[in-house]
Amino acid sequence: MKKFVGILIASASLALAAIDANAQAPSDIPEEMNTLMTKYTCIACHRPNQRLVGPAYSDVAKKKYSNEEIVNLIYNPIPAHWPGYPPMAAMKQVPKEDAMKLAVWINSLDGSPAKKGGATKAKSKGKKA
Ligand code: HEC
Repeated sequence: MKKFVGILIASASLALAAIDANAQAPSDIPEEMNTLMTKYTCIACHRPNQRLVGPAYSDVAKKKYSNEEIVNLIYNPIPAHWPGYPPMAAMKQVPKEDAMKLAVWINSLDGSPAKKGGATKAKSKGKKA
């Protein structure tokens, strides 16, 4: 019995250690996105909910670009969209697949609490068409 409790405690601290490791990334960035943001250096200038060198992704999401438009803007930024910011360098080294993953995530940050309901999602899909 004592042994069993010991195992329990050991696995609990293992779980805690895992949480700790995740805490390295800002808590509002999913792990996969943190990996891409770090790999392509977006993280140096962007945060989901905070202006840094570049705009917060939640503010980008408010512009209601399509995912494809965001991918294009990663490759060919249009600084006129963001008066008061320095121009972003074109990030053509990002493979299209990863740029699309980032775009989908950026667009999910528009602050609308509608994630769970299908209705709003369907509506915004219609708008894009
Ligand atoms: C050196 C800083 C820097 C890096 C690195 C950077 N950005 Fe930006 N980003 C900016 C700035 C500044 C703006 C606003 C001015 C502009 O669009 O040129 C911006 C704008 C944007 C926009 C909005 C485009 C628009 O026209 O509305 C998106 C989307 C974006 N960045 C995504 C990314 C992604 C994804 C990466 C990584 C692959 C990245 N950025 C890397 C600085 C940066």
